[in-house]
Amino acid sequence: MYTRLIGTGSYLPGNPVTNNDLVARGIDTNDEWIVTRTGISSRYLAEPGATASELGLAAARRALEMADVDGSEIDLIIVATSTPDFIFPSTACLIQGQLGNKGATAFDVQAVCSGFVYALGIADKFLRSGSHKKALIIGTEVFSRILDWSDRGTCVLFGDGAGAVVLEASDTPGILATALHADGSQSGILNVPGQVCGGQITGDPFLRMDGPAVFKFAVRVLVEVAEEVCKVAGIGTSEVDWLIPHQANIRIIDATGRKLGVDRSKVIVTVDRHGNTSAASVPLALDEAVRDSRIQSGQKILLEGVGGGFTWGAALLVF
Ligand code: ACO
Repeated sequence: MYTRLIGTGSYLPGNPVTNNDLVARGIDTNDEWIVTRTGISSRYLAEPGATASELGLAAARRALEMADVDGSEIDLIIVATSTPDFIFPSTACLIQGQLGNKGATAFDVQAVCSGFVYALGIADKFLRSGSHKKALIIGTEVFSRILDWSDRGTCVLFGDGAGAVVLEASDTPGILATALHADGSQSGILNVPGQVCGGQITGDPFLRMDGPAVFKFAVRVLVEVAEEVCKVAGIGTSEVDWLIPHQANIRIIDATGRKLGVDRSKVIVTVDRHGNTSAASVPLALDEAVRDSRIQSGQKILLEGVGGGFTWGAALLVF
């Protein structure tokens, strides 16, 4: 039994916000610095009040439409997000309610920017076990809510958005291998170290990052985990048709592609227009490349995530 991907969808809120728009909003930065260091030219920022479940639902509806599956047919819903609507209920349950789906297994995964790949790996195990038949996997974030807009070293890097896929159990190959990892000893280099306690926010509710440390860690583990899943599937990393790494920073993406021997023409890049959308970045990039027909049936796609925790993972699949 395999897990096959049968639909993709995505949603970006509002209009692009360019680097110069950020300058106009009073952020002490400039287009040249952001483009040179990160490759980011613009991102999308949700209106105040927009929620991860709203963005995720819009992406999910598009994925279900492509798959020609009704929401009621789904028996597993996993949402990857670090910016849920509430402490509880889970964003997965909120989306389930809006889809008119009752009874399906539904839960959130918290693995920050690796969240979508984690959710994919978990869903693969559910579907291959035979316990579930059709899954909806969503990465959705309103990361703008946890940014310190006075910290120019982080606020320019991120954006909001959502991506989704529909998966089904199948006897023809789909997902060939997945690998999921974490190293909690690195929790200090990227975090939002705050909490709600007794009705008050305690600690720091904004994203904090040691940029150079994250950069080095990310490239190393993205290379290692890509090699790991390709080895399981018995192929070399240069044999993948498309590499879709987490869209954090063009320099991380380029360094990873170079070390893996994957030509830049085979790497899907959206970070220039989306910024870093955390758990949404990989499904957003996947959906773009499916809809513009770069990704074709039968091709091998390598999806990779890395993020706070630290967490990292990869999934190799035949489209
Ligand atoms: N605009 C203008 N100048 C800035 C900005 C900005 N937005 N941000 C920082 N600077 C300045 C700093 O103040 C510093 O100035 P100084 O030398 O006068 O003190 C200078 O630029 C250099 O700052 P550094 O932090 O040393 O810059 P660096 O070359 O390390 O680049 C960056 C920073 C882009 C964050 C880099 O470390 C990086 O790419 N790290 C990877 C982190 C990443 O992508 N994180 C995404 C989230 S993690 C994830 O998704 C896995």
